Amino acid sequence: MLRIAVLASGHGSNLAAILEHCRAGRLRAQVAAVLSNNPQAGALEHARTAGVPRWALAHKGIAREDFDLRMLEFIRAQGAEAIILAGYMRLLTPAFIQGYAGRILNIHPALLPAFPGLDGGGDALAYGVKLAGCTVHFVDEIMDHGPVIIQAAVPVGAGDKPDDLMPRIHALEHRIYPQAVQWLADGRLSLDGRKVVLAPARGGELKPACCGEAEHGPWLVSPALEEF
Ligand code: GRF
Repeated sequence: MLRIAVLASGHGSNLAAILEHCRAGRLRAQVAAVLSNNPQAGALEHARTAGVPRWALAHKGIAREDFDLRMLEFIRAQGAEAIILAGYMRLLTPAFIQGYAGRILNIHPALLPAFPGLDGGGDALAYGVKLAGCTVHFVDEIMDHGPVIIQAAVPVGAGDKPDDLMPRIHALEHRIYPQAVQWLADGRLSLDGRKVVLAPARGGELKPACCGEAEHGPWLVSPALEEF
């Protein structure tokens, strides 16, 4: 089972979804560590409840390189093989990223490359897009930039406010992130330039996309969800 470290600065709803899928045996990975730059982060409470080793330190006043090195030490000490950013609201230093090159994932609440940055969902809404969504991608040294693994789209309703749109996006984040982690754990993701290639499951075939209708309305995910 792939041992993952999760970095989170906030509520931790994506961490909670990953933990729940692991607990239920749907996601064949193990959360080996949760780290935060915000000692008050809700994510730490999810980790505590699940009995996962935690590391938290307020970053203020600590040089970025030192902070990241301290995180790396803890991550390595817990034997994590991959790093999952789940609402981690700080840019990581090149040394940190190189330490886990090709094994760091991030989730972003917009259809990248549109609307990178701190408030992708809010920025998309303010821009007036008709389709919003979320993206899981590999992390490189540029913010919200690395190769795209999976994206989900939802329609934006006339008059939608952030409180209408964001729950729709979050509901899909909680499905596409565990799916991406499972693909990583299964060794099915490779790179062709900056294109992510998903290998078919053993004995299976790839479906290009899937769509459905949830409590919050219609959605489209590509590549197709297989397990979540
Ligand atoms: C999510 O919207 C994610 O896309 C973004 O930060 C938010 C984290 O939410 N990177 P949560 O802490 O997982 O609830």
